[in-house]
Amino acid sequence: MVSNQANSKRHIRNIVRQALSRRKFLQGSSAFAVSSTLPGFFLRPVHAQDEDLIGFTPVTQSDAAGDWIAIAPEYEANILYPWGTPLNAEVGDFVWPPTDAQQAEQIGVGHDGMWFFPPPKVQTDTDTDNGMVASSETPKEDKVVERGVLCLNHEFGSNEVVIGKEDPESLADVRTSQHAHGVSVLDIERTENGWRFVGGCNTRRIHVNSPVRFSGPAADSELLDRPDGAVPLGTLNNCGCGKTPWGTYLTCEENFHLYFGASGGLPRTGQLQRGRVGLNPDLGSIYSWYLFDKRFDLSNEGSRGEENRFGWVVEIDPYDASKTPVKRTALGRFKHESCEIVIGRDNRIVAYMGDDEADEFIYKFISDEDYEVMLERGDSPLDHGRLFVAHFDDDFTGRWIRLHDGNPIIRRRVGRAAEIAVNTRMAADQVDATPMDRPEWVAAGQDGYVYCALTNNAGRVTANAPNPQAPNPDGHIIRWRDSDNHLGIRFEWDIFKLASDTHGTAGSFSDPDSIWIDPDGRLFIGTDGNQQNGMNNQLVVANTMTGTVKRLLSGVPGCEITGITPNADRSTLFVNVQHPGNGDLSASDFPRLDEEPVVPRDATIAISRKDGGVVGS
Ligand code: FEO
Ligand code: CA
Ligand code: CA
Ligand code: CA
Repeated sequence: MVSNQANSKRHIRNIVRQALSRRKFLQGSSAFAVSSTLPGFFLRPVHAQDEDLIGFTPVTQSDAAGDWIAIAPEYEANILYPWGTPLNAEVGDFVWPPTDAQQAEQIGVGHDGMWFFPPPKVQTDTDTDNGMVASSETPKEDKVVERGVLCLNHEFGSNEVVIGKEDPESLADVRTSQHAHGVSVLDIERTENGWRFVGGCNTRRIHVNSPVRFSGPAADSELLDRPDGAVPLGTLNNCGCGKTPWGTYLTCEENFHLYFGASGGLPRTGQLQRGRVGLNPDLGSIYSWYLFDKRFDLSNEGSRGEENRFGWVVEIDPYDASKTPVKRTALGRFKHESCEIVIGRDNRIVAYMGDDEADEFIYKFISDEDYEVMLERGDSPLDHGRLFVAHFDDDFTGRWIRLHDGNPIIRRRVGRAAEIAVNTRMAADQVDATPMDRPEWVAAGQDGYVYCALTNNAGRVTANAPNPQAPNPDGHIIRWRDSDNHLGIRFEWDIFKLASDTHGTAGSFSDPDSIWIDPDGRLFIGTDGNQQNGMNNQLVVANTMTGTVKRLLSGVPGCEITGITPNADRSTLFVNVQHPGNGDLSASDFPRLDEEPVVPRDATIAISRKDGGVVGS
């Protein structure tokens, strides 16, 4: 007699076995050999590459367990702008802890998602088509060979690191922390001696007290209004990112709930819990801003609704400092990790997004029309479109389920378009969305596959095909291929890599988080979690055609490696060393500047092949 529980366990084991054997089949075959069982699937041929695609010598496990950056021997790296770097000469050198006024004019903390934008294609005396600039005023030995703007997210920094104490003791302390969050827009240039931050007309900070505006279905909703009439300000917990085909930057607000606390009773617990985003006063606020700033105090009636102003994807124009950042509500409100945009059929844009929390969902958004037609008319393609959530079936197919008020259950339990935008998780709960193992970044390849890092889920009790390990301490990377050139309702999927399968190899990794795929099919994977054999967090590169993984770089104790973005010709990759020491001031001395104070500081590093080749090769 087999119990139901045993039956169900056996069923799950079978599903998982099928998932694993299918994965092996896919790894052992060229991309051409993957059959499409659904009509109209988007399949762009990829030429099978041999192992030369990733030719570098991997960093060894022992080098990756040291107290400093380790990089493949064919590569070199230089450190750019640590947290606290002044944006202009008036600010003066970094002192620790910075004042609120200094921090507002310094590079923020918690370097996370970022993207490099080459100069716009406007012909001037100095610009050429490829963005290369040769200025006659620059000394010959320091000739500028490339310029661009880097948009850089500042996700978070612990109070101990940023203000030098566990809790703020004044509004000035709170402001320092707030100014350390947000985004930096940075003019950078490359000389023959490497990359450097130079400052310029695009350089600016956007933080928790900077003006922002809303657009899309929730923009005029009373859910975003406050009784005291305060205008919308700021962006925070800026995690992963995205970029649009029209040259703007997308910064994604993730764990916004951690900034809200309650000084007293909570008169509106029910309303706060509707969004199911963790606005729970019992958990407290790890930053304690609410002690001195009523805006983040959930007990304060005047600021009711402030919490609905976060959890969005925010659009920033790198090359126009006069434009106010816009929160695009059509993309939904949840713990946005990143926002990967592709151009689909009919020149519409399609945005793929993960919601990073255990057992949350993967979403996609499709613009209503050809994005260029919309832009020409003055409409944003990010304001008008349809939002979907993913359902994965155990037979390696799946479907996108639309979240809209045409669904009577969503309409009755959640509301109209504005309510769906604000309480997106609640809308997804009404349909058959598949809870995933913490969806982090999404990256779309030229092969038509879209990859998503599922970082881990230690609490998973029941395995299924798309999340085949219970518990799942090391994470995996799933990928899918939509029908109808990204516009379809149906998709095929498979598991690209279980992190645990790499253990014991030259590319052993755990906890995949930030990912970027280059046009040749190299998947760069930044990690955030406990690595094998005491290794620090790292950057590995996977050949998406063969499944081979190699370790390109490893970080310092306590840090996370994130924010993967290339320069124009892919001879440089910028990555971030985030939270070195992980809040413990004595755990790391990164970036080892010969100056006081010695406090671990997040920094971007630029890595290049010594022979000038494409990064990752
Ligand atoms: Fe900000 Fe999910 O990492
Ligand atoms: Ca992340
Ligand atoms: Ca993470
Ligand atoms: Ca993180």
